[in-house]
Amino acid sequence: MTNLETLLSDFNSQISAVQNKQQLEEIRVNFLGKKGLVTELFSQLKNVPNEEKKAFGAKINQLRDQVTQKIDIAKDHFENAELNEKLIGEKIDVSAPTRKSSAGKIHPINQVMLEIEEIFGALGFDFAKGPEIEDDFHNFTALNMPADHPARQMQDTFYLKNSDLLLRTHTSNTQIRKMLNSQPPLKVAALGRVFRRDSDQTHTPMFHQFEGFVVDENINMGHLKWTLENFLEKFFEVKNVELRFRPSFFPFTEPSAEVDINYSIENGRIKIGGSKNSLGDRFMEILGCGMIHPNVLENCKIDSKKYQGFAFGIGIERLAMLKYGITDLRMFFENDARFLNHFGF
Ligand code: DAH
Repeated sequence: MTNLETLLSDFNSQISAVQNKQQLEEIRVNFLGKKGLVTELFSQLKNVPNEEKKAFGAKINQLRDQVTQKIDIAKDHFENAELNEKLIGEKIDVSAPTRKSSAGKIHPINQVMLEIEEIFGALGFDFAKGPEIEDDFHNFTALNMPADHPARQMQDTFYLKNSDLLLRTHTSNTQIRKMLNSQPPLKVAALGRVFRRDSDQTHTPMFHQFEGFVVDENINMGHLKWTLENFLEKFFEVKNVELRFRPSFFPFTEPSAEVDINYSIENGRIKIGGSKNSLGDRFMEILGCGMIHPNVLENCKIDSKKYQGFAFGIGIERLAMLKYGITDLRMFFENDARFLNHFGF
């Protein structure tokens, strides 16, 4: 009769020395297979005296369970190791360069910002970046919008929970930040994200603005007009951009104007500017501007008797739509690969 203890210790020493799945399978067949050592024990049952059968049967069952359990654990161990090895082999290095050199493109919004930087850089403007998370003072109060000012309601502001901070509603906050920490003469351009609680076909809760301003002695609206015309002709790569200044209101400028640009429709597409005798006969609003309000200068410790300034703010998405013929504002933010491939640079 086989000694169960010897069999078990045999098994234990084999299983603790097992190196791989094949060896494990050999051990399994050797002990649990049809002719395996454990299976054979059951055929010995008939030789056991009747009164011991029950106890012997229970012992073999127990032995078989122990052996089965240890084999299963070892099998799991080898399978996990195999899987890990496979995963390491398949690991993708997301920082590796792509094989296709044309795979990445510049988003049209970034392209417009690069073009603006080029044009205004050449004019000697500094570039400033205000914070996107802003306080009430820099976004409103210093821009001549005290606490009860009705223009505040029109801005659909996102406020941060449990704090006095907000998401800036316009890039005009950069005017304040720049003027507070430097002295005129100033020629500054600021580009960046702005946020408003507004979402439909023509509004997205996040969009981009470009703010430009100049503060110096003897600055007037003629400087503003030249700057805008020069910029728009360069940006749209056309001659004869005609601008229409419509009187308007902004708390931070006085006088204030909204500016319309001339355009025509050619082959179903918007065309800006044109030759002298084929100037577009239609006008569309593209920006807000004005002479910086003396209160704003004084809020920034700039002597408004000595210095004047002009300022303007333009929506960057609007510029991109006009230049590239993009018809739906929301396409900018969906990151559809087809859009990026088509309109990217
Ligand atoms: N901050 C204005 C807005 O978001 C745009 C604007 C208008 C900016 C006139 C200016 C300005 O600098 O002079 O609606």
